[in-house]
Amino acid sequence: MFKMRFKIGRLMFSAVALRGEHTLSLLELQHVSKTYDNITKALQDISLTVEAGEFVSIIGPSGAGKSTLLRCINRLIDVTEGTIVFDGQDITQVKGKDLRKVRTKAGMIFQHYNLVNRLSVIENVLHGRLGYKSTFSGSIGHYTEAEKEQAFMIIEKLGLTEQAYKRCDELSGGQKQRVGIARALMQEPKLILCDEPIASLDPNSSKIIMDYLKDINQTMKITCLVNLHQVDVAMNYSERIIGITSGQKIFDGQAKELDKNIIHQIYQSKDGQLIIDMKE
Ligand SMILES: Nc1ncnc2c1ncn2[C@@H]1O[C@H](COP(=O)(O)OP(=O)(O)O)[C@@H](O)[C@H]1O
Ligand SMILES: [Mg+2]
Repeated sequence: MFKMRFKIGRLMFSAVALRGEHTLSLLELQHVSKTYDNITKALQDISLTVEAGEFVSIIGPSGAGKSTLLRCINRLIDVTEGTIVFDGQDITQVKGKDLRKVRTKAGMIFQHYNLVNRLSVIENVLHGRLGYKSTFSGSIGHYTEAEKEQAFMIIEKLGLTEQAYKRCDELSGGQKQRVGIARALMQEPKLILCDEPIASLDPNSSKIIMDYLKDINQTMKITCLVNLHQVDVAMNYSERIIGITSGQKIFDGQAKELDKNIIHQIYQSKDGQLIIDMKE
């Protein structure tokens, strides 16, 4: 954990070592468990860290707990046990204004886009600012000129200028997801949480979306945590992969360390059941 380094003369030493602790990660989950209705153990004792600037994929079969994990991080649901520290703050129990701030700092992108279909692209993108506004100015759709300019810049970045005034229900799936990304960027987030962002898209649109996410990560330095069920996509786009199965973390390492055996463990599959070609 030598993330933040200060150079003093020829001596390099880490802030972590100075403080004697390790709380400088952007996100840290400590022993997080989530049980639904006292019955379903969706997450069991998950500990993990995400450093600022990383692009991390979470893979695992359907029902493994991937969505639950992201929902705990942006506090759409409460954890049953454990602690979540985000951007230096324990957010496990935050409420009200503080919770709103957390949600603003963690943009969310969904499989089914979660747009307001009857509204235009620009209106949906501007919704990314709502977390910064009073309920009143948000509800009357009051945005500053600077916010509108910023929205158009982001729309342009995502190749949606021609669609800016179209209603979202006139767009293709890939375009809708780009609106989802644009809305998340309007929040000026430190972290983008993506829950199966390409699960409803064809291969071409999927590539476009993953390329945008990677570009945002690299050029805007926004940390990305992406739930995926496609192992090959995770391996192509992320430096680090976390594998979960039945609510437990069973792999956390570099994409290149992922081999056939580990994938079989994550997906509880047998030889011959994997579609992708993997090294042994
Ligand atoms: N709101 C909920 N109420 C009860 N059980 C749920 C709820 N959401 C998810 N679950 C259960 O929790 C487990 C993990 O689900 P989920 O996080 O959606 O997995 P994934 O996203 O990996 O498919 C599953 O057994 C699922 O049925
Ligand atoms: Mg899911």
